Amino acid sequence: MRKSLPFIAGNWKMHKNIPEAVKLAQEIKDKSLPLTSGTLVLIPPFPALYPVYQVIQETPLKLGAQNVFWEKEGAYTGEVSPAMLEAAGCQYVIIGHSERRQYFKETDEDINKKIKAVLQTQLNPIFCLGESLETRQAGQTLEIIRQQLEKGLRSLQSEDIRRIIIAYEPIWAIGTGMTATPAQAQEVHAFIRDFIAQNYGNSTAEYVIILYGGSVKPNNAFSLMREKDIDGALVGGASLKADSFLEIFQEALKAYEEKK
Ligand code: 13P
Repeated sequence: MRKSLPFIAGNWKMHKNIPEAVKLAQEIKDKSLPLTSGTLVLIPPFPALYPVYQVIQETPLKLGAQNVFWEKEGAYTGEVSPAMLEAAGCQYVIIGHSERRQYFKETDEDINKKIKAVLQTQLNPIFCLGESLETRQAGQTLEIIRQQLEKGLRSLQSEDIRRIIIAYEPIWAIGTGMTATPAQAQEVHAFIRDFIAQNYGNSTAEYVIILYGGSVKPNNAFSLMREKDIDGALVGGASLKADSFLEIFQEALKAYEEKK
């Protein structure tokens, strides 16, 4: 079974310089402890990773990064390797966020290489996928999700899949305030779990954590997290304030208790 649920991760995107990031991490730490169940992950921009790690080390809070390159080292100006992220205190790394696919032209093939490189280390990938508004309106959501899964996870084994967290983030719901309805999100989550079951077996499918992302707020977290296949959230805007981030976590805890 899936462990340490609910799983709530805050993707700070390109927000917070080092002092601001340290302050936010300190507030989250002060207000979240003692944390006895679930998983909370802070995902600040690169320069703030190690300073945030210093705040949250020796607490149950976890650290993640927003991107990674697939090579171990070399002449790749501007890139950061999986081992560098580990050394900065990270346990997770986002791969394939739609903003990287859109603005930095990351392809499914790039994403597959990144996932494989990260799995050579102790880091756990948070693999993002999701459809555009046009795709949804054309009735092709599940087909696109299937293609993203096939290409992103190409030539991985079930023991690899168990280390991957999948984040379903419909592009039309990111930063727009237009959250997917619980039924819309559950449909895609169930489809993803079914894809994993068919390709990697039922026990792997039961083990894999699948997050929803896209305008998750304290007032919609409970109804989303109550759905059977939604194990947590990847939160953008609402993760930039300790109170809203932790309220989402509390709502998710309540929903998880109800589902157990
Ligand atoms: P918002 O919560 O701001 O919509 O962002 C979601 C997201 O992209 C998390 O990775």
